[in-house]
Amino acid sequence: MVRLTIEGHQIDAPPNCSILQAFLHAGQTLVEGVGCMGQGVCGSCRVLVRRGGEREVNTALACETLIEEGMQVASLEYFTAPVRHVYRPEEAGDSWHLLQSIGETFPEAAHCRHCGGCDRACPKGLDVQRGVNLAVEGKLAESGRVFDECVMCNLCTLACPELIRPNHLGLFVRRMTAALWLRPANLMHRLQQIESGEMRIDFDAPGARPPR
Ligand code: SF4
Ligand code: SF4
Ligand code: FES
Repeated sequence: MVRLTIEGHQIDAPPNCSILQAFLHAGQTLVEGVGCMGQGVCGSCRVLVRRGGEREVNTALACETLIEEGMQVASLEYFTAPVRHVYRPEEAGDSWHLLQSIGETFPEAAHCRHCGGCDRACPKGLDVQRGVNLAVEGKLAESGRVFDECVMCNLCTLACPELIRPNHLGLFVRRMTAALWLRPANLMHRLQQIESGEMRIDFDAPGARPPR
């Protein structure tokens, strides 16, 4: 058995358990700080972790982190930032105005101190600071890709001394680029041909059906 401390309670749990599983194993009830129950996609199970014999405290997702002997764990409540960014993707206009719209909606993003706090806070190991800076430079597709695996745990927002809310900037960039992305013209043409009946698909033709 592995002995650790969660929220000040000493817990013994079998090896290869996640922190979340160890908590349940100890008979505790999970009423908050959990969402996807171990899929690592909801960002709800934010915790601070100090490993045995170490002084440093790191952020982690409790459902993705395996327990270790002597580990100390404390959960982190959801943090709501005082600043909210209000925008409507359907009002984005054309892509020429997108950079201006980032500056208007997230003016604080240009004040990034390059302190790396968001990178250290991110339990997914994303290059958050780079994503913020790419957005400010107008490299939107690249910025959006940095945040592809963001689970919106909000820890980067909690860490940022400039109140930038990097995850929300990332979401903004991804929403806007998706809203403005032009679909390939030949694909649109072909779909219109199919819809109008100009092009007929014979599903009974040899090889017409995709393999199951
Ligand atoms: S970018 Fe921010 S919100 Fe997204 S996973 Fe990392 S710390 Fe969490
Ligand atoms: S925490 Fe904020 S100021 Fe620091 S690098 Fe990240 S975005 Fe920039
Ligand atoms: S419970 Fe969803 S990320 Fe951990």
